[in-house]
Amino acid sequence: MPLETNIYETIVTTIDVQGVAHVTPFGIRMQDDLVVISPFKPSTTLNNILSTQHAVVNMTDDVRVFAGALTHRHVGELVKAEQVNGYRLANTLAHKELKLLRFEDDDIRPQLFMQVIHEAQHQPFLGFNRAQAAVIELAVLVSRLKRLPMEKITQEMAYLKIAIEKTAGRRELEAWGWLEEAINNHWAAMNNENIA
Ligand SMILES: Cc1cc2nc3c(=O)[nH]c(=O)nc-3n(C[C@H](O)[C@H](O)[C@H](O)COP(=O)(O)O)c2cc1C
Repeated sequence: MPLETNIYETIVTTIDVQGVAHVTPFGIRMQDDLVVISPFKPSTTLNNILSTQHAVVNMTDDVRVFAGALTHRHVGELVKAEQVNGYRLANTLAHKELKLLRFEDDDIRPQLFMQVIHEAQHQPFLGFNRAQAAVIELAVLVSRLKRLPMEKITQEMAYLKIAIEKTAGRRELEAWGWLEEAINNHWAAMNNENIA
């Protein structure tokens, strides 16, 4: 069954009570002009939003930020948000500054309903790029690495790589390489466990 609203893959930036920034990919949806974020517990983003009441959602086509967040790299320079205490990506196409309006708690996946209090467009949308979509798909697989069979990852990577080979630019190749390295490291660690 189709979803009532699309899910958009974005970068959510939050801060903790000390002001330390946290940058994470999240699939968000819009509902009645509200941005809905649904983090699986435990989540630093969830904790940050509950303690500060704010977040920023960044719409970026720089897929290195997705791959970098998952592989613990510091990519994506941050600048101060305009109307909330927090940050947005400097090089984002657009961003929305959010305030928590309603929290629906759940043991597994609570929902945060957030009001848009400021939004801005910084760069134009250039069109779809298949390599960017492929990096996002691989990033989703990497975020579930511990729960997925190796065979599924190998098969999907082989298919996604076609789009990388045909349509990637420098940023997509770099992001793909980081994710590939994370997968290889995970397999090496699993093999070592099996040998030990
Ligand atoms: C494209 C993409 C979308 C994601 N969407 C979600 C999401 O909706 N909810 C979630 O809990 N994790 C999502 N993840 C995984 C998180 O980015 C990652 O697991 C992270 O650890 C979330 O926890 P944090 O708030 O502690 O950083 C997504 C990952 C990717 C690559």
